[in-house]
Amino acid sequence: MRRHHFAALLLLATALVGTAVPASSATTTAPAGTRPYLDQRLPVKQRVADLLARMTLAEKVGQMTQAERGSVDNDQGRITNLALGSLLSGGGSAPSPNTPEAWADMVDGYQSHALATRLRIPILYGVDSVHGHGNLVGATVFPHNIGMGATRDPALVRRAAHITATETRATGPQWVFAPCVCVTRDERWGRSYESFGEDPRLVSRMTTAVEGLQGGNTRDLARNDRVLATVKHFAGDGDTVYGTSTTGDYIIDRGITRTSHKRFAEIDLAPYVTAVQVHDVGSVMPSYSSVQWTDVPGSEPIRMSAHKELLTDVLKQKIGFDGFLISDWDAIGEIPGDFATQVRTSVNAGMDMFMQPYNAPQFIQTLTAEVQAGRVELSRIDDAVSRILKAKFELGLFERPYTDRTNIGTIGSAAHRAVARRAVAESQVLLKNDHKTLPLKPSQRLYVAGVNADDLGNQAGGWTVTWQGQSGNTAFPGTTILQGIRKNARNVTYSSDASAATAGYDVGVVVIGETPYAEGVGDVGVGGHTLNLSAADKANIDRVCSAIRTCVVLDVAGRTQIVTDQLPRTDAFVMSWLPGSEGDGVADVLFGKRPFSGKLPVSWPRGEAQEPINVGDRDYDPLFPYGYGLTTP
Ligand code: GLC
Repeated sequence: MRRHHFAALLLLATALVGTAVPASSATTTAPAGTRPYLDQRLPVKQRVADLLARMTLAEKVGQMTQAERGSVDNDQGRITNLALGSLLSGGGSAPSPNTPEAWADMVDGYQSHALATRLRIPILYGVDSVHGHGNLVGATVFPHNIGMGATRDPALVRRAAHITATETRATGPQWVFAPCVCVTRDERWGRSYESFGEDPRLVSRMTTAVEGLQGGNTRDLARNDRVLATVKHFAGDGDTVYGTSTTGDYIIDRGITRTSHKRFAEIDLAPYVTAVQVHDVGSVMPSYSSVQWTDVPGSEPIRMSAHKELLTDVLKQKIGFDGFLISDWDAIGEIPGDFATQVRTSVNAGMDMFMQPYNAPQFIQTLTAEVQAGRVELSRIDDAVSRILKAKFELGLFERPYTDRTNIGTIGSAAHRAVARRAVAESQVLLKNDHKTLPLKPSQRLYVAGVNADDLGNQAGGWTVTWQGQSGNTAFPGTTILQGIRKNARNVTYSSDASAATAGYDVGVVVIGETPYAEGVGDVGVGGHTLNLSAADKANIDRVCSAIRTCVVLDVAGRTQIVTDQLPRTDAFVMSWLPGSEGDGVADVLFGKRPFSGKLPVSWPRGEAQEPINVGDRDYDPLFPYGYGLTTP
């Protein structure tokens, strides 16, 4: 029996004997004549049933609709008139000024319009807190999931997620579109860094992120330091075939996963089973990508947003998911057919809430017409709305619809940043360390080169203040890797392009890597993206490692880069991934304040043409194997 069923039974049992189980805040007794759905002493199931019975079709369809804040910001009455169930901030969609208080004021402003509806149903506000509350300036920015996978530390992942939930909920959003439990099988994918790794067993272990976000049981969701989690993108988003994307100018993102039912269950589905059955995740986001069965003759690719077999038969019925499905951004627009067909197909496949950033009114009108024409059963609508309302009751939104700002002072706190710093240190993977080059000594004269040594934006990557992220040191507070090095060594020269004289130094430290990107924009082959090193990075390695006796290279990137030719010139090589705001964590292992302990969460290819390459492949011959990582004392 899942924990929350037990809690519900306990609540019912105690309610029957007259002693209500205390909610997360002081227990209040509802005044006489209170409508059952407003009586928090009653089981959630009973409150849902009572509210559903009171709702009109328009109110039900409104609950299934999510709009981007930008589409209602200048006419917030639309929230009331459309009876919207939810709003979101897309990547970078923040209030101005982008401060915790402004966020909370913004969300509460929207909420007041939702509470002006006939039944006063509060909205859910969703945001992509995928490595901390990344849209918020001043938030603690954790390493992206690929680095968290390298830590092999599920408890740390849970702790980081709890901090993320605390900083998010204190600013208003009660729902995050995280964690991505994608299993990245081809690093040419622009979202590879959003994955914990290529091994579904590792990714399943890291679903502790759900518990960190939601808490250990359903009743935690009402707390001011927890949020509703979303595991995404269901499923096979990281297992698509390179070159099969038919959307925009992406090449692998949103492509086709060609697989058998057996392999799909082993690779792509496994993390969702854990997220649902162990952690009771409250929502799931289907992927833009498609699945084409190799064990079904004549099988055609079907978009996940339209995949009834996988959304309803497998996820909801077989695996037992009792939360709600939220579509990805305009994702139903990629289903074949006109808009009415797209809406009908997706809702009948099992989609419950629809992320329709800028066409919410059209969606509402279309779905209403489909129900009235009998092409969508009212029972399907009632199922979807019940799932959505369940989350809202469990989050305590009917009792406390406005932001509880108690924890707003903890945002970006030293305590939170210390946890992120530890995560950075544990995520570093030491791949080469000849002559015990590392750890460095404070007395050594260091020559540091490479833009990524001193660029907060590059070390944080996408989904940081803006959707795509941005280079530079002005967007948000944090410490760069160079700043961390300078705190540990007395004699440090920095020359981003290695143009400064190189004589008289003991160790050269060259930081290579990528600039930020998000989603298919980062696909190899799009916008010049490649796994190969940039000319500037190659030149820096050539110049510094040929001039200075000992040479250390750090790679600040979202994915494995091709370093086969450069590796022999180095004495030590470290994969730093995308560490986020706490560059000090990199210096901690460079100078031995913490040991190197990270392990590769993906296989490291010798060349781009080796992708996809994954542990368990026949003729497996990577530059560094999955799970590889040297340690230091
Ligand atoms: C994006 C992403 C998804 C994100 C959503 C809302 O397109 O695919 O991961 O949660 O839109 O920003």
